[in-house]
Amino acid sequence: MNLESEVEKSNSLVKRVGEIDFPQRKVYIKTYGCQMNEHDTQRMLSSLEDLNFDQTQEKEEADLILFNTCAIRDLANSKFYSHLGEIKHIKEKKKDVVVGVGGCVAQTEGKDLIKKYNHLDFAFGTDVIDDISSLVYRTYAGENKFSVNTWDRSRDYSIETKITHGKPQAYINIIKGCDKFCSYCIVPFTRGREKSRRVSEIVKDVQRLVEYQGIQEITLLGQNVNSFGKDNKESLAQLIIELDKIKGLALIRYTTSHPYDVSDELISVHGSSSKLSRHLHLPVQSGSNTVLQRMLREYTVEHYLGLLKKLRQARPDIVLSTDIIAGFPNETREEHEATLNLLREAQYDFIYAYSYSARPGTKAARMKDSLSEEERRQRLWEIQELQLAIQADLRQEMVGRVYRLLVDESGTKKDVLKWKGRTNCMRIVHFRPENESMDYLWHWVDVKITQATALSCQGEIVKDHGKSYPAPDLTVF
Ligand code: SAH
Ligand code: SF4
Ligand code: F3S
Repeated sequence: MNLESEVEKSNSLVKRVGEIDFPQRKVYIKTYGCQMNEHDTQRMLSSLEDLNFDQTQEKEEADLILFNTCAIRDLANSKFYSHLGEIKHIKEKKKDVVVGVGGCVAQTEGKDLIKKYNHLDFAFGTDVIDDISSLVYRTYAGENKFSVNTWDRSRDYSIETKITHGKPQAYINIIKGCDKFCSYCIVPFTRGREKSRRVSEIVKDVQRLVEYQGIQEITLLGQNVNSFGKDNKESLAQLIIELDKIKGLALIRYTTSHPYDVSDELISVHGSSSKLSRHLHLPVQSGSNTVLQRMLREYTVEHYLGLLKKLRQARPDIVLSTDIIAGFPNETREEHEATLNLLREAQYDFIYAYSYSARPGTKAARMKDSLSEEERRQRLWEIQELQLAIQADLRQEMVGRVYRLLVDESGTKKDVLKWKGRTNCMRIVHFRPENESMDYLWHWVDVKITQATALSCQGEIVKDHGKSYPAPDLTVF
C-alpha cells in the first residue's frame, strides 16, 4: 500500500488514509541502544506524520506507545522489559491505546513477546522500520497481536534522510547489518547481513539536506560503517572524498568501525579530507591476542596498534577512542592486564567500557565460563580508573588552546548558566555566556580552554561566529 498517495490533506485536523479517518493523535517512543536506533526513531516519527501523529514526551497522554529496543547487553534488555510491564496500567485505564515493540529485541523475540504480554498489540523487527505507518494502520483497521520480522535484502537499499527536529546535525544511514559475527555479539542476529547504499544516492541525499534543511554536520551510520560499499565495489574512503566536495557541509563523522576494515585508502583520507572529523572511534575490545582470538575479532593487538600509528602519521592531531569488554569468558589475570597495557600505549581520549554480558544464541554464550560477576565488575573498575587517569593527563594539553565548537545545549548548574558544545574532535566543552541574554544555540563559537579534567572541559568565549560555518582558521583546533 502506498500510504503517501492515499493521504488526503484536505482537512488539517483529520487525515483520511485508505478507508480510515485519522484525527490528530500523539505518539510516545522510548528509544534504547545506539545511534542507529535513535536514527530509526527519527525515521518512524517522520513516517507517522502521514497518519497524523505528533510526538509527545508523556506516555500518559499518548495514543500510540512504541518501544525501539536494544539487545546488546542484558541491562538494556531488562530495562525495556520493566518499562513494558509499567505500560500495562496505562492500557487498563485507556483501552484504545495502541502498544508496539520494535527494534533489536523485537527482531529475535517479537513472536514470544506478543504471546507473553496481553497489552502488546504488535511487534516489528529492524528491517521493517520504514513500514511503521502501514503496521500502525493495520492496528487501526482492527488487526492486533501480530509480529513482523522479515528480512528483505533483495531491494536496493535506499533511505532518504528525513529530519524532523530542525538541528544542523543529521545522521545518515549508509550501511545496515553486520557480517562479522564476533563471538559475543547479538547484532548480526538482530540486524541481519550487510547491505550498503550507493555512493551516488547518499551524495544526493546529503546535498539535499545541506541545501534545503541547513544541515552542516553529518554522522555516517552503520554497525560496521567502514565495511561500507563492499557489495557494490565502492568504499567509505570513496564516499568521504565525494562528500568532501559538497559546498556548505562543514563536518563529517562516522561511527562505528571495525579495525579489520580500516584500509590504507581510508587512513589516507583521514589525512587529506578537509571535512572529516579529527576524531575516530575504533573499538578494540581487548588488549590480549588470545582473547581477541576467542572473540573472533580477526586482528591482533600489533596490527591494531599499527593502525593507530598510521592514523597518527596521516593526521597528527587525531583524537582516538575505543570500546572495551571487561571479563570476557575465562579471561585470565594476564589477559586482563594486557588490556590495561594497551590503554597505556594507545592513549585514548575516552573509552566506553562494558562488563561482558552473555547474549543468547551467540558462540560466547555457549562457552563454559570461569569468571564471576564480581571479578568482571572489579576488572571493569580497574579499566575505568586507569583510563580516567590517562585522559585527565591527555586533556591538560587543551588548556590555553582555542577550540571551535558547534553549540548544542545550555543549562544552569548551581545557579550558573553555561552553554555546551562539541569540538571537531568530539570533546565536550562548557563555557559561560558573555551576557545571560545571549542565545548561542547552533552557533559556531571559538572558546579558549581554561580548565580540563578527565570528564569535563571549561572555557571562555573568544569569538561568536553565528550560525553559518566560518572559514577554517589554522590557529583554532
Ligand atoms: N560494530 C562495532 C561495535 C558495535 S556494538 C565493533 O565491531 O566494534 C557496541 C559495543 O558494545 C561493542 O563495541 C562492544 O564493546 C559492546 N558489546 C557488544 N556485545 C557485548 C556483550 N555481549 N557484552 C558486553 N559488551 C558488548
Ligand atoms: Fe558486533 Fe561489531 Fe562484531 Fe558486528 S563487528 S558482530 S556489530 S561487535
Ligand atoms: Fe542495540 Fe541493536 Fe544498536 S542491539 S546497540 S540497538 S544495533
